[in-house]
Amino acid sequence: MEIRNKRVVLTGAAGGMGRILAAELKKKGAILALVDANAKALNEVSGGLEGSYPVAGDLSSAEGCRKAAEACQEVLGGIDLLINLAGISSFTAYEDENPDKVELMMRVNLLAPMWLARAILPSMLAQNSGRIVNVGSIFGSIGFAYFTTYSATKFGLRGFSEALRRELADTKIKVTYIAPRAVKTPMNSDVIMKMGEATKMNMDAPEDVVRKIIAAINSDRKDIYFGFPEALFVRINVMFPRLVDKALAAQNRIARKFAKNEA
Ligand SMILES: NC(=O)c1ccc[n+]([C@@H]2O[C@H](COP(=O)([O-])OP(=O)(O)OC[C@H]3O[C@@H](n4cnc5c(N)ncnc54)[C@H](OP(=O)(O)O)[C@@H]3O)[C@@H](O)[C@H]2O)c1
Repeated sequence: MEIRNKRVVLTGAAGGMGRILAAELKKKGAILALVDANAKALNEVSGGLEGSYPVAGDLSSAEGCRKAAEACQEVLGGIDLLINLAGISSFTAYEDENPDKVELMMRVNLLAPMWLARAILPSMLAQNSGRIVNVGSIFGSIGFAYFTTYSATKFGLRGFSEALRRELADTKIKVTYIAPRAVKTPMNSDVIMKMGEATKMNMDAPEDVVRKIIAAINSDRKDIYFGFPEALFVRINVMFPRLVDKALAAQNRIARKFAKNEA
C-alpha cells in the first residue's frame, strides 16, 4: 500500500514504537489520527507532527473503541489504514498474575483491535479499499513462559488476523499481521531488560522495527515475523513443538528467578 495521502488511524501512538511510527508515517505523507490513553504524551507527539489529530481515549472497552473510531472517522473523513499498535504486557509467574490484569490485557491487546476493526470495516467495505494492520508478537506464535497472559492475547490476535484476512479475501480490504521480537521500549521494565540480558534475548531498536513495519505495509505483506532465529523458531514450533520446549527450558529456569523476584 502506498502511504502517501492515506488516512491512517494509529493506536498506541504515544508509546515507544508508536511515536516513531507516527513520525515515519507523517514523513511518508499520511494524514494521521493518533490514538492513545496517555493524553499528555499524545498531545506532545501530535504537537510535533503538523496536521495530525490527537484522539485521546481508553481502548479497553467496546464503548471506548467505538468512540475512538467515531472520532477518527470524523477528523479524517474516512479511514484507509488502521494500525492496531496499542498494547500492554505482563512478566510474572502465572500463579502470581493479577486476574484483573488478565482481563485488561485481553481487552487492550485482543478485544480492542477486534472492536476497532468491527467499527471501521463497514466504511472500508463501502469505499472498497483499506488495510487493517495488527501488531502482534513472536510470543503470539511461541507461547513464552512468564509472558503467559501476553502470549495468549497475541495468539488470539494472530488467529483473528488470519481469519479476517481469509474472510475478506474476495474484497479490496487487506489484513496484515506483524510479529516483532523483543524491542527496546518502555513496555519492557528494568526487570525484563535484566532477564533479557541474562537469557541472551535478542532485542531490536524501535527505529528498525518501525522501518520493517512500514516496509510490510508498502509491500502488502499478509504476515511477517521479525528476526533470526525467532522467525525460524515460529515455523519449528508448528512442526516440532517438543524441540522448542527443550530449546527454551534452560532459559525459562533463568527467567523464573526474575519473574519471581529472586534473581
Ligand atoms: N516492546 C516489545 O518488546 C514488543 C515486542 C513485540 C511486540 N510488541 C507490541 O508492539 C506494540 C507497541 O509496543 P511498545 O513497545 O511501543 O509499547 P509501549 O511503549 O508501552 O506503548 C504502548 C502504548 O499503548 C498505550 N495504551 C496502553 N493501554 C491503552 C489503552 N487501554 N487504550 C489506549 N492506549 C493504550 C500506552 O499508553 P500508556 O503509556 O498510557 O499505558 C502506550 O502509549 C504492542 O502491541 C506490543 O505488544 C512490543
